[in-house]
Amino acid sequence: MAEKQSIVVVGSINADLTTHVQRHPNPGETLLGSGGTVSAGGKGANQAVAAAQLGANVSMVGAIGNDAMAKDAMVHLEKSGVDTDPVATIDGPTGLAVITVSADGENTIIVVPGANAQVDAGFVEKHAELIKSAGIVLLQGEIPASGFARAVDLAQGRVVVNLAPVVEVGHEQLLKANPLVVNEHEGALVLELLGAPLQSGDPQYLLKALLEQGFNTVVMTLGAKGALVADAQGLTEIPTPTIHAVDTTGSGDGFVGALVAKLADGADLVAASKFAARVGAFAATRAGAQASYPTLDDELPS
Ligand code: RIB
Repeated sequence: MAEKQSIVVVGSINADLTTHVQRHPNPGETLLGSGGTVSAGGKGANQAVAAAQLGANVSMVGAIGNDAMAKDAMVHLEKSGVDTDPVATIDGPTGLAVITVSADGENTIIVVPGANAQVDAGFVEKHAELIKSAGIVLLQGEIPASGFARAVDLAQGRVVVNLAPVVEVGHEQLLKANPLVVNEHEGALVLELLGAPLQSGDPQYLLKALLEQGFNTVVMTLGAKGALVADAQGLTEIPTPTIHAVDTTGSGDGFVGALVAKLADGADLVAASKFAARVGAFAATRAGAQASYPTLDDELPS
């Protein structure tokens, strides 16, 4: 059997401040809610934790602040065995996500970058040897574009990008994603970013258009409808188990973490996506982001 590849995540670490409401407020409206808990989040950290809990060898390159939130943000990274040596503590606040979860499990999220804003090209350069040695470098859209670009340029292994949120990053670097992982909304925004004409919001159209822009492979997550994998062989539909969603916060990150964990094990993209859909569904049945991810001992829905 081929050796397990190492994964280096260059990304965000946040403290998630979560409130629960019956429904999301309209602009200008005040609602009463519950919760107000602080837990570990950040798309980079979430994906690192999800992969590590599934047995992957993961290092996290990122930054936290020297405030009270930092400890909450690091709990699962430390518990799950992620190598956190490349996490710097900077003078200032930790990244903060303000999250509202409605009774149907849907969420809204506003992210205040805090320390994540320091993860620029100079910061990433300090971890050049680690990034060069990675089998997979995994990136999201919550660090500065210069840090994103430097990480891709240093990568000698596979680059996986979950461009969430969709931010302006170098096109040359973005097109190295293999796969690019996006939902329908993000897929349309990526096409816009690349200056491609957008004729439809249909997932199959979006995938074809993304491949035409030069992506090697794309995985499009479709929530309760599963996912689609687009590669040179065409399109493959990935089913997802039917579950009762409690909180979808971070379930997309669970998907991405599981996907890279499987790719690092040598699985092909379709097999890895099938597994990832089950992990994403599992995560949606539990509250929070990192606290909702399975370990190898958990039974996944099928
Ligand atoms: O994808 C969910 C994550 O988005 C949250 O954990 C929050 O921190 C934001 O980064």
